[in-house]
Amino acid sequence: MTGITPIIELRDISKSYGNNTALSGINISVYPGEVHCLLGDNGAGKSTLIKMMSGVVPPSTGQILFDGKPVNLASPREAMAYGIATVHQDVGSIPLLGVARNFFLGVEPTKGWGPFKRIDFDKAGEIAIEHIRAMGISRVTDPDQLVGTMSGGERQALAIARALYLGAKVLILDEPTAALGVRESSVVIDAIRKARAQGVALVFITHNAPHAFAVGDRYTVLLQGRVAASFSRGEKTLDELTTWMAGGKKIAEDATV
Ligand SMILES: Nc1ncnc2c1ncn2[C@@H]1O[C@H](COP(=O)(O)OP(=O)(O)OP(=O)(O)O)[C@@H](O)[C@H]1O
Ligand SMILES: [Mg+2]
Repeated sequence: MTGITPIIELRDISKSYGNNTALSGINISVYPGEVHCLLGDNGAGKSTLIKMMSGVVPPSTGQILFDGKPVNLASPREAMAYGIATVHQDVGSIPLLGVARNFFLGVEPTKGWGPFKRIDFDKAGEIAIEHIRAMGISRVTDPDQLVGTMSGGERQALAIARALYLGAKVLILDEPTAALGVRESSVVIDAIRKARAQGVALVFITHNAPHAFAVGDRYTVLLQGRVAASFSRGEKTLDELTTWMAGGKKIAEDATV
């Protein structure tokens, strides 16, 4: 993909917590309209990496570029202002709120003016349902349906739809399929594909090789805080990917990647 500027790029990033080096010498480029899978065993540094992308922790050394320009993502708010959004595994939705209220959570469309300004619930409901449907969720049609009654996959899709609606350019998904069954996972994978089709860059963290294989365009494997391998769709078989994700230490020693 020469000639296209990464929407987010990490250059020679390292992160230490005291004597513990969580990451070192990390180079990653994430492109618009692509799914970048971030793979690696427990403790490999995946969460630390996405915390740096989303302004939660600063890198110790190295540079983060957004759309080709160096940026200082000093806080999650700043990262969000660039359009970097993170959806966590628990998606942060509120089970006892309706779909539309969850979708907007404080940014509801209003009608009226001045002291007469109030939330336009009809409009909010229409927008929420329309955007959820665009992510492949057609079973939810009532904007007042409680989020707690939605399936795990539908909730992830709701969170993805919400982030896109709010203008996300980079969407980081931290193990979105980890707690889900096969059918629910396919709902999430489908939503990821739909988000990609809108030109968003997705960073997809997963321990599940088939899920990564199904949807990934680019892959970075972390091993003990370093990039052990990076490759593109089609360069590895599912078997190879599975072996990498099972710890891959042996391969890392032998590999010429
Ligand atoms: N706040 C912290 N203080 C000290 N060490 C930390 C801190 N956060 C992470 N680490 C260390 O950094 C390393 C990488 O951790 P990280 O959570 O990024 O791994 P991970 O790949 O997300 O693992 P998992 O798959 O278990 O979520 C680990 O050795 C961890 O102990
Ligand atoms: Mg983690």
